Amino acid sequence: MADASIDTLRSHFQARLAAAATERDVKAIDDEFLSRKSGSVTALMQTLKSLPAEERRAFGAGVNALKSEIESALAERRTTLEASRPPAGAVDVTLPGREHASGRIHPLMRVRQEVEDIFSRMGYEILEGPEVEDDFHNFEALNMPPDHPARDMQDTLYLGGPIVGGTWGAHRASQGGGNVPDAQVRAATLLRTHTSAMQIRYMKTFPPPVRILVPGRVYRRDNLDLTHTPMFQQCEGLVVGEGISLADLKGTFEALLTGLFGDVKVRLRPSFFPYTEPSAEIDISCRSCGGSGCGICKHTGWLEILGSGMVHPAVFEAVGYDPDKVTGFAFGMGMERVAMLKYGVDDIRLFYENDLRFLEQFPV
Ligand code: DAH
Repeated sequence: MADASIDTLRSHFQARLAAAATERDVKAIDDEFLSRKSGSVTALMQTLKSLPAEERRAFGAGVNALKSEIESALAERRTTLEASRPPAGAVDVTLPGREHASGRIHPLMRVRQEVEDIFSRMGYEILEGPEVEDDFHNFEALNMPPDHPARDMQDTLYLGGPIVGGTWGAHRASQGGGNVPDAQVRAATLLRTHTSAMQIRYMKTFPPPVRILVPGRVYRRDNLDLTHTPMFQQCEGLVVGEGISLADLKGTFEALLTGLFGDVKVRLRPSFFPYTEPSAEIDISCRSCGGSGCGICKHTGWLEILGSGMVHPAVFEAVGYDPDKVTGFAFGMGMERVAMLKYGVDDIRLFYENDLRFLEQFPV
C-alpha cells in the first residue's frame, strides 16, 4: 500500500519531467515535489507517522530514495537545458526581420547629379565657389558697374559688415591650384546673386582654355511664393578657348537638354545679359503639350530653361584674357526650375519644406 503511493508519485513525477521544456518548468516541478512546506514528496513523508511501526522503516527509505531520484533527475535536466541555452545577446534567427526606412536622394540633388554627369562626360571640371562674395566678382567684373540697372534685377542681400577674403582661393591652392593672387583677397560684402561670380574667380586664377561647371547656392531679396525663394540653386558653365563659337553653345545645350528631358526641341531666343554678347535665352519644347500650346507653357509651346551667351569682351578684359585671342560661351541655369519641369512640381517651396509626403514620391 505504502509502496503503491511512492510508485504513483514517481510515475507522476516522470510524466511531469517529460513535459518540462524550460528551466522555468523544471523550477516549478522542483517546487511541486520537493518544497519543504508543500511539496508532494514532503507530504508523503509526513504520512509515515500514521503507518504501523513495522512498515515505517521501509517506507521512509522508499520515500528518501524517490527524493534523491527526483533531485538528480532535476539536476540532470537543468544541465541539459543550460547547455542548450543561447549565449547572452544571441540573435534569435526565428524573429521576422526589421524593416529599415531608406532615405532618398533629394530631387534637387538628383537633378544636380544628372547635370554634373552630363558635363563631366563632356570633359568639364566641376567646382564650387564661395557663397559670400565681393562686388567685384559678383557685379563689376561681369560688366555691371555700380550704377548699372541690371543690378536691380538681382536684388542683393548685403552683409552687416564686410569679411575679408573667401575660402575658394585657399581651397584651390591646397589642391595644387597654385597661389591665389593678392588681388583676389577682397572684402566680401554680399551673398552672391548668381554663380556667374565664379567665372571671374576662375579666369583670374587660371589661363585659358577653360571648361568649368559651377553648381551652388545663390541668394536674392525675394519673398517666398510659388516660383521664388530667397535662396535657390544654380549651375554656371563657362567654356573659353580659341575659336569657340555660338555653334558650340547650341550643341552643348542640345546634349544637356536631351540628356535631362529626353526627346525635346531646343531653341535660342535673343536676350540680354551684361556679361554676354550676343545673349540668348534657351528654351525647350513644352513637354506637356509637345509644342502645341497649353497652360504650362503659357500657350507658347516653349519653356524657358536657361540664360546664356558669348562671353563679353569686357569680361575677358577684367580678368586679363585677350579678347582678340579667345572667345567663349557661358550659361546659368536654375536647378529648381529644371526639377519643377522634369518632375511636374508646381510650387518651388516644396523643395525646401522637407515634407516626407513630397520627398517619398521620388524613387530611392
Ligand atoms: N546669371 C544669370 C542669372 O542669374 C544666368 C546667366 C545668364 C549666366 C547668362 C550666364 C550667362 O553665365 O551667360 O539669371
